[in-house]
Amino acid sequence: MGNWSIIPGRTNYAEHLKSMYRAFATSWARTYRQVFWLSDGKRSIDYISVLLHKPKEKIEQIVYDLLVSGHIKVQSGDKELAMNPALLKESFNLITPRKEEFARHFYNLLFQQYPQVRELFPNMESGMRRQEASLITTLAVVVAGVERGENLAAVIRSLGERHSRYGAQAAHYPIVGQLLIQTFQDLLGDAFTTQMKAAWSQAYEIISNEMLKGAAQAVQS
Ligand code: HEM
Repeated sequence: MGNWSIIPGRTNYAEHLKSMYRAFATSWARTYRQVFWLSDGKRSIDYISVLLHKPKEKIEQIVYDLLVSGHIKVQSGDKELAMNPALLKESFNLITPRKEEFARHFYNLLFQQYPQVRELFPNMESGMRRQEASLITTLAVVVAGVERGENLAAVIRSLGERHSRYGAQAAHYPIVGQLLIQTFQDLLGDAFTTQMKAAWSQAYEIISNEMLKGAAQAVQS
């Protein structure tokens, strides 16, 4: 996302988010609130940084934190990215009763299509069981956190930092994202709508972008 001219705008969801007027209004740092209110879909990150007299990198970080937590969407050219908690949750609820099947199907696809990543994961059946639970649990935590309007960016970055130690590479992320969506499609069929698919692709792009930032910071430190 680095080289885009990014224009942040507020999500409809955030406008209705209770936490925005309660917890967000008091507990999020002042600059976050300023960036949120200045995100009107017309001002770029560059422009907001000039208005607030803050370095562009700082504003960029805040924009991504607000993006991960569902408060704002970003527009770059024709492309729009936003977390859509309502759709994420709706689709997530459809697979919750089948979450073990979901995880097993996902890892089967991954190891069949990309056997080279098999060695990164635990070998033993019990280790893999733990792994199956963790992917889905993390996604549930993210969906629930976004629903509450929490700032999940730091948690996601540290997940990314750990992933660089597990041997996950940047090139693996789009593969995992694509198979995640395929798993939804295989399990849910037509019940997984085009809108849900778009919501998951965008959520995954936002989350993996943030994880990769955490991984890059781990390399630098
Ligand atoms: C949005 C994307 C992803 C999410 C939410 C996610 C989530 C998780 C979670 C929660 C864990 C448990 C350990 C921990 O919390 O540190 C984990 C472990 C792991 N993940 Fe991911 N992951 C993602 C993408 C990837 C990708 C792209 C790869 C690359 C192949 C990968 C490979 C691994 C490996 C190798 C482990 C460690 C397994 C073990 O030794 O127990 N993950 N992941």
